[in-house]
Amino acid sequence: MRTRIIGVALIGVFGCSGETQVELSAFGEAFVEEGIEAEAFVDGWSVSFSELVVSVNDVRTSPGGPVSSGGFVLDLSLSSGGDGHPLTRTVVEGDVLQSVHYRLSPPSGEVEGNATAAQVDRLRAEGLAVWAQGTATRDGQSVGFAWGIPADLSFDCDVGTRLSPDRLARVELTMHGDHFFVDDLELAPNLAFDEIADADADGDGVVVPSELAAVPLTGLARYQTGGRSDIDDLWTYVGAAALTMPHVDGEGTCAPRFVPDDYTSFELTDADPVLGAGLYAEHCASCHGAEGRGDGPGAGGMSPSPSDLTNAPPGASDAGYIAFRTARGGAMFPYASSMPAYEEVFADADLVSVVAYVRELAGH
Ligand code: HEC
Repeated sequence: MRTRIIGVALIGVFGCSGETQVELSAFGEAFVEEGIEAEAFVDGWSVSFSELVVSVNDVRTSPGGPVSSGGFVLDLSLSSGGDGHPLTRTVVEGDVLQSVHYRLSPPSGEVEGNATAAQVDRLRAEGLAVWAQGTATRDGQSVGFAWGIPADLSFDCDVGTRLSPDRLARVELTMHGDHFFVDDLELAPNLAFDEIADADADGDGVVVPSELAAVPLTGLARYQTGGRSDIDDLWTYVGAAALTMPHVDGEGTCAPRFVPDDYTSFELTDADPVLGAGLYAEHCASCHGAEGRGDGPGAGGMSPSPSDLTNAPPGASDAGYIAFRTARGGAMFPYASSMPAYEEVFADADLVSVVAYVRELAGH
């Protein structure tokens, strides 16, 4: 009887059918709130975080849209009692919450969240999206770490939660804090700390980014970069590993929409629609399909499979992102796909026209 009364009350609260309240939260899991035990590491270290501060901006749901005008800065090392730290609630219309988009980037403007003013100020002053601080321990030896990550990276996370107007839906941005210590950026990694501990060049008991940056990756057999040749020192490696942290609802995947600096200001000027359509038919349709649905004749058995370009999540609709992916292809971390690179094939005018055409396929 009790459940029934609650059910009726909720319908009253949420009103109009087809609209569901969605609560968004952020959670670092037990690894971040309570620590990572020695059994999880191949070399017997254990780790506890004293701070894991993340700056989350531009949170949007699809369907739906932006969930707040400002960003959020959260210290995920604080206990949430296992429930995650609430960000905000939003109202979504429709039957399924398909995806959540957000950006890990330094705070700008107003922020909400449980971080202290000093934590927010440090991210702002140093242009950081993530601050991780803590201690690793083994056999009575302790080594601290204090790392700021100056990232600006968007993520599109597949959610797929069924919505029902009479029930509050929940979406959790889950940060896998153990990823700071993974030894492989592509396949089933182990957690390790030996090489990081050894990087403490000044012997003060705290490993900082400049000390990690001084360690070339070539000497360290343990670390695998998933084919990303730009990662050649231990700090670049740890930073890239940290940026694989974002997940959704526990283990749900989030696709990073990294756009390198040389493409962030890419502009769609003087696109030629006829040229774009022709180049698409010639170079792209075999995999992505004549209409862009990812079902071209060459797509069969490909893993990962060619993207459905007509249903691109927000980060994937960005012109700079499409230009970058078309120019550079997929043979690099984190994509590891057989998407070819077209930077040697297309002139600038070709690239602009193809990008405009791909955006058109998605209805832009
Ligand atoms: C040999 C097959 C193949 C061809 C040809 C191909 N692609 Fe792709 N493409 C892929 C695969 C596989 C993926 C998904 C994995 C990835 O992101 O790399 C992809 C991903 C993409 C993405 C990223 C989509 C997203 O959601 O992140 C874009 C944009 C893209 N392709 C555009 C193009 C354009 C434009 C062309 C032609 C100039 C093209 N592709 C030609 C296989 C191909």
